[in-house]
Amino acid sequence: MGKNENIVILAIESSCDDTSASVIKNGIVLSNVIAGQKVHEEYGGVVPELASRSHQENIVPVIDSAIKKANIERGEITAVGFTQGPGLLGSLLVGTSFAKGFALSLGLPLIGVNHLQAHVLACFIQEENETVKMPKFPFLCLLVSGGHTQIIIVKDYLEMEIIGQTLDDAAGEAFDKSAKVLGLPYPGGPIIDREAAKGNPLAFRFAKPQISNLDFSFSGLKTSFLYTLRDEQKRNPEFIKERLSDLCASLQKCIIDILLDKLIKASQQTGIKQIVIGGGVSANSGLRNAIVETGQKLEWEYFLPKLKYTTDNAAMIGITAFFKYKKQEFTNQNVSPVARF
Ligand code: KG4
Ligand code: ZN
Repeated sequence: MGKNENIVILAIESSCDDTSASVIKNGIVLSNVIAGQKVHEEYGGVVPELASRSHQENIVPVIDSAIKKANIERGEITAVGFTQGPGLLGSLLVGTSFAKGFALSLGLPLIGVNHLQAHVLACFIQEENETVKMPKFPFLCLLVSGGHTQIIIVKDYLEMEIIGQTLDDAAGEAFDKSAKVLGLPYPGGPIIDREAAKGNPLAFRFAKPQISNLDFSFSGLKTSFLYTLRDEQKRNPEFIKERLSDLCASLQKCIIDILLDKLIKASQQTGIKQIVIGGGVSANSGLRNAIVETGQKLEWEYFLPKLKYTTDNAAMIGITAFFKYKKQEFTNQNVSPVARF
């Protein structure tokens, strides 16, 4: 590869219930197309079989649209990045198979990407005519998604160390499962966020875990939330309806307190004051405000990804594939998706 050659990555994300494709040229996002899947709403969670079927329907139009929006020719693409895992196996298979076929037919190298690493590196996504303030290594990342909750020391683009993680539910699950018992549709996180804005975060108190290291737990909170609902509904069957926003605000505050408590501890223990958040839950307005407030108090330099790059998207897969391309970290054609790493 000559020094002046462009690196153009076509990236595909299909780990869960969003089909997404993106074109990244020399680290700049030219397009990022996401097709969500409404079919899961009524089931209160993602139905794997329905997710794979929707990916199959969506993948060709989504990739087509990403290439068109980027205003490039297929021939300009230099590599194909795809989510190798973790995620739902059937969903990952659709993206992986497509990526392999596409790369094979155009004679391009493949780059398998770890979805979690991509959520972390979303803070490096930059659009055309935009200068994004980026963290310097090493930084701490609080990664909060539907399946994971981790604190990571990021030493370099592709060098990360997990120093804390959840022992049971993920932060996103704590939102989604609580929303479900409130009778709200899936995914509940964004709905709780909206309701919480109208409520009193000090109205109710729920259990917080007592764990001395940097690990998280949300199962106690879930149980105490459930018991509050059960006891109060015995007295007043209209309880949830009447107090929905207070319940959401108090629940959200509790989840954020649990997260911030460990993030502050991690920063104190490592001496690292560059703080990044990533993953679907990093879209939460309460969490973002808490990071800003705490950051100002503790003199952190904090980095909040744009909302569209917090939840699942192919741009983050593309930027990760870009860094891997620069290190010539390619993936073999006989690669298989991996549900868990
Ligand atoms: O990163 P993501 O899109 O998918 C996974 O990799 O899991 O995260 C999805 C999670 C869901 O649990 C969803 O409820 C949560 O992110 N989420 C939110 C918000 N937006 C998405 N949780 C709280 N507040 C939000 N605004
Ligand atoms: Zn994700």
